Amino acid sequence: MAKLIKIFDTTLRDGEQSPGCSMNAREKLQIADRLQKMGVDVIEAGFAISSPGDFQCVKDIADNIRNTSVCSLARCLEKDIDAAYEAIQNASNPRIHVFLATSPVHMQYKLKMTPEQVLESIDHHVRYARNKCANVEFSAEDATRSEPEFLAKVVDVAIKAGATTINIPDTVGYTTPDEMRERIRFLRETVPGSDLVDFSVHCHNDLGMATANSLAGVLGGATQIECCVNGIGERAGNTALEEVVMALKVRGALFDAYTNIDSTQIYKTSRKVYNIIGQTAARTKPIVGKNAFAHESGIHQHGVLANKETYEIMTPESVGVPTNEMVLGKHSGRHAFEAHLKDMGYDLPEKRIAETFEAFKKLCDKKKEVTDRDIDALISHGAAALPVQEGMYHFDRFDVHAGNFSTPTSVVRLKKGDELIEEVALGDGPINASFEAINKIVHPPVHSFENFSIQSVSEGNDTMGDVRVTLQYDGRDFKGRGLSTDIIESSIMAYINAINQLMAYSDAKEKQSEGVS
Ligand code: KIV
Ligand code: ZN
Repeated sequence: MAKLIKIFDTTLRDGEQSPGCSMNAREKLQIADRLQKMGVDVIEAGFAISSPGDFQCVKDIADNIRNTSVCSLARCLEKDIDAAYEAIQNASNPRIHVFLATSPVHMQYKLKMTPEQVLESIDHHVRYARNKCANVEFSAEDATRSEPEFLAKVVDVAIKAGATTINIPDTVGYTTPDEMRERIRFLRETVPGSDLVDFSVHCHNDLGMATANSLAGVLGGATQIECCVNGIGERAGNTALEEVVMALKVRGALFDAYTNIDSTQIYKTSRKVYNIIGQTAARTKPIVGKNAFAHESGIHQHGVLANKETYEIMTPESVGVPTNEMVLGKHSGRHAFEAHLKDMGYDLPEKRIAETFEAFKKLCDKKKEVTDRDIDALISHGAAALPVQEGMYHFDRFDVHAGNFSTPTSVVRLKKGDELIEEVALGDGPINASFEAINKIVHPPVHSFENFSIQSVSEGNDTMGDVRVTLQYDGRDFKGRGLSTDIIESSIMAYINAINQLMAYSDAKEKQSEGVS
């Protein structure tokens, strides 16, 4: 009988911890909601002990998501396990995910522990977690570079201590499909009690084999795959959720397996994640890239017209690629707009619908046709927006003069409370001049510019430009985002957004040090 392969999504933990993929609490909750709608079995919501912010995000997700198990990562430390459980305890099916490295290089140089101490720590901490929570996963970090006989002892200890899932991570993306299959088979066959637990695989993509290694793990006896939407994650990323899910769907007979995922939700979820992290898929990205279902060559087009199966192993509909995106315009009323948001899978509170409708109407004055991609961008931009706080600067207006024979000049007017403040500055270009004018108004402390990117939301020369700015100050990143059909305006908005956060942080720091001295 075909076996169920559980999908454990770690977009919000392993995915989010990679550079350029950080998300705020509202964005994480939106993604968790999409993951729940798509039918993942477990959401790894974060690493609760890592910061108060991460703790709160894990808690918010555990408190709000009802149909999916919610999990937090924890090192083999009691304080980590306590924080993890405190954050997830209200979940409908909470899971604590405890990990410890088991490879010789990690034990000797990172942990500075002997193999015996590692076994003792696993025994103690898995028991400790199990006393709090019935659902405990243990991960042997760097398992694929661990000695097979020692790994078998590790798994034996973890199962005896009460782990209900044993995860075998390929932490550095080093293994191959044959090795992964053999490793899982060996553990399943040699460790007593392994028939009573789930075996999981968690693969990184350093050599481009994460999907193949995960599927090989299934052939060896794994019943859970850990993955991230769009394959985001540390270094070269984690196994891409959409790839393993569709491989198991298209080649289900070969693997004698299936998942609980509603594959028609994949495209929407992929877009949501890209939108939030400000990236786009490579055109050739399997399943979700722009070219994944495009047939350009004459021979292919001819074949597909005669019979789709000639060149199509799955349909765009099966992953939810919209075949005819609905286009809204300035005559679309509030009811049609609201109904369309529901069709797009959004279930927003009244206030957010009203804000999005207002932003949509403003956009209609600038752009003839508003597509689903524009609406996705407006919604995720709204989710990223900071709550209005006293002392924050708001964009009012700008005026630039630029050309390749003149020095670019920008006049920017900002609002702070009831006060309007205007400054003029020169720069290397109109965007740089605008940022300089803002600096003259705000006087931020010295900071560095870590990142500046502009992405077009859709096609056409009236498309919106989605600008992301990352500033660094005091070892911290401050991120801002701006969205407009005018890229100078979106750049100014993104910069003000980031500057407001930086100023709030530096003011708080200053007050704190005044209180101390
Ligand atoms: O890659 C890895 O080993 C991990 C573990 C914490 C599961 O992410
Ligand atoms: Zn990982």
